[in-house]
Amino acid sequence: MSGEFFDNLFTGRVSRRAFLEKVSTAAVALPLMGTPVAEALAQQGSVSGQVVTPAQPKTAEPDIDQIPDDNPTYSPSNIGGGGRIERNFHRRWIKVSKVPMVEGYAIYDARTQEVFPWPEIEARGVYLNFSGNVHMDGVIYEIPPGKAMAPRHNFYEQNVIGLVGRGYTVFGEGAHTSKVEWGEGSLFAAPMNVLHRHYNSDPAKPARLLAITTFPFMLQVFGSLRLVNDLAFNFTDRYDGSPDYFSKSKRIEERWDETNFVKDMRQSELVEWNERGGGDRSIFWKMAGQTILEPHASEFEVGSYKLGHRHPYEAIILTLNGKGFSLAGKDGLDESKSVKLDWKDGSVVSPPYYWWHQHFNTGDTAARYFAMTEGDFPKRLGIPLDVQQIEANQEDPRIKQRFEQELKKAGVKSAEVHHNLDESDHPGHAHSHGPGHTHSHPHDGDHSHVGDHAHEG
Ligand SMILES: [Fe+2]
Repeated sequence: MSGEFFDNLFTGRVSRRAFLEKVSTAAVALPLMGTPVAEALAQQGSVSGQVVTPAQPKTAEPDIDQIPDDNPTYSPSNIGGGGRIERNFHRRWIKVSKVPMVEGYAIYDARTQEVFPWPEIEARGVYLNFSGNVHMDGVIYEIPPGKAMAPRHNFYEQNVIGLVGRGYTVFGEGAHTSKVEWGEGSLFAAPMNVLHRHYNSDPAKPARLLAITTFPFMLQVFGSLRLVNDLAFNFTDRYDGSPDYFSKSKRIEERWDETNFVKDMRQSELVEWNERGGGDRSIFWKMAGQTILEPHASEFEVGSYKLGHRHPYEAIILTLNGKGFSLAGKDGLDESKSVKLDWKDGSVVSPPYYWWHQHFNTGDTAARYFAMTEGDFPKRLGIPLDVQQIEANQEDPRIKQRFEQELKKAGVKSAEVHHNLDESDHPGHAHSHGPGHTHSHPHDGDHSHVGDHAHEG
């Protein structure tokens, strides 16, 4: 499924039917598809990984805003002075970059997902271009046994998760260095623009990391790879090089920790949200002074499923424990309108921007997941945080029937099927679910007012 295909999908040149036919031929859970570039890179053989490079690799590619588009899209003729060329620097980068990448909504297992030689980072990896996302991306890095990746610093926000193996990352230079040791299930912040280098501690096995970053957004704003890769500026308010930078942690709200490192998200404390009555347990993390990325972990119990909803912010979800599936559809969640994305521990799912989606736990344990969203960032861009939810009494009965069938297929018989009454992408979404109404509610975005909500209909 090429970038061009998705361009056509988003500009309406591909019908939904053609789209669904195309995805129905894809493998289970719609894995992200490899691009020809990735295949070509893979054929070049592996990177030696022997060379320790002290100097920063400078960006070899020209700036995206300088590359002419041979197949431009024009704005409608009645706006932009009579049809401007529309710029989408991230999509342009996707087309011209030699970085190995895949595109789609989900990968079934980030721990075994195919990775490719990636000379610039002196490791293997693959860039995850989530369809429809223009703010956040994901990147899988695989560090060879006992080796280190190239040192880098980047002018974008970034949080990193340990997927496989163990290692450590060194941040900063001179007197202001800190080190964080990570393993499977760890989460740590890579503070903005701080020089850092990832090391694999295991002499025998590769180690894998998943980074979630705001590179797409920074590129969309400035169109400059030189800016994101070569900026000389210290964000001293985000990183001070203090020795306890990765060990300090503070509970700042009932279910918010301010911290730069979580040892194992699979084991971390979750805080009950009893006032919601849905058995929800969550924890949110405020990391490295970030203003866009908002990570949290949450759990929903056996036999439960979330209410269908959509929101004008991006979300990338990594399953930590358990199994189930999600539905995602631009126009609704009916079987004919949606795609089904199976997940298990290690799966990464990112429903396209403002598509309807719904999550179902078909495992015999609680399903715990890590989710990265954008917090109240869209609101700062002037986008109303209008989260829409299909309330239980408005739900198409076929949704529940389908869930019951899937539970049966999975061999989960004893579970009492019920809604987990919290979609839980963001604590500002807290609202009650009284019977007899469907509502959309503007996102409050202010964490000190959890529980605020407005009924609009
Ligand atoms: Fe969501």
